[in-house]
Amino acid sequence: MDITRFDTIDSTNDYIKREKIGEKHIISADVQSAGRGRRGNIWNSSAGGAWFSFCLNEDKNITQEYYGKIPFIAGASVSAVLAEVTGSDIFMFKWVNDIYVYDKKICGILVEKSEGHFIIGIGINVNNNIEAEYRDNRISLYELFGRTFDIEEIIMKTAERFYENYTLLIRGGWPEIYTYICEKDYLRGREIKVINDGCEILGIAEGITTVGSLKVKTKDEIKEVETGSIIIR
Ligand code: BTN
Repeated sequence: MDITRFDTIDSTNDYIKREKIGEKHIISADVQSAGRGRRGNIWNSSAGGAWFSFCLNEDKNITQEYYGKIPFIAGASVSAVLAEVTGSDIFMFKWVNDIYVYDKKICGILVEKSEGHFIIGIGINVNNNIEAEYRDNRISLYELFGRTFDIEEIIMKTAERFYENYTLLIRGGWPEIYTYICEKDYLRGREIKVINDGCEILGIAEGITTVGSLKVKTKDEIKEVETGSIIIR
């Protein structure tokens, strides 16, 4: 696994896309001047966080069913590595690919497809202090544990774990990954609102289906949602 580290770049996802960086080469930045989140959100990327991306080539012999699992693999990899480096089991998986601790987001993941490959962009709040405006719903490892962590170690281990989990997936290991994400399911039992294409579904999160959809118990039925953003009520 190679890593190229920048002091500042616009966005590690955009760099991979622009420079056509191949598999198993991580791009990381101390600061991103135009860090991006999902749904066009800005991702605050000041010094002290782990902001990095890497890519996975699309293989025409592998079905879409596998590629739909990439967010889960990325989330499961981050959660396992954070548990390993901190020695703590508090990291929960929020469908479809955030990591939460005590009701606050510690990691966001942006998976994008570009010309025959997937770009996996991961942002983990590590040694940074969360800006005042986000403190109600975000947290960093430093704030949780009162000490700093080795950012490069977290980045390398996460990318390695991702490729290992991807290999596991295409060799039939989804049940193992699925069991793990169900154990770490942050939303289960919570009252949520799912927003998808302007539609809203209100209900209780009832777990994740074996194909990776979110089960939501509304007042009259159980809906299986494939995509959407989640608001906890
Ligand atoms: C989200 O929760 O909305 C996803 C956030 C993803 C942020 C990471 S930081 C590294 C990579 N580069 C970006 O511009 N975004 C991702």
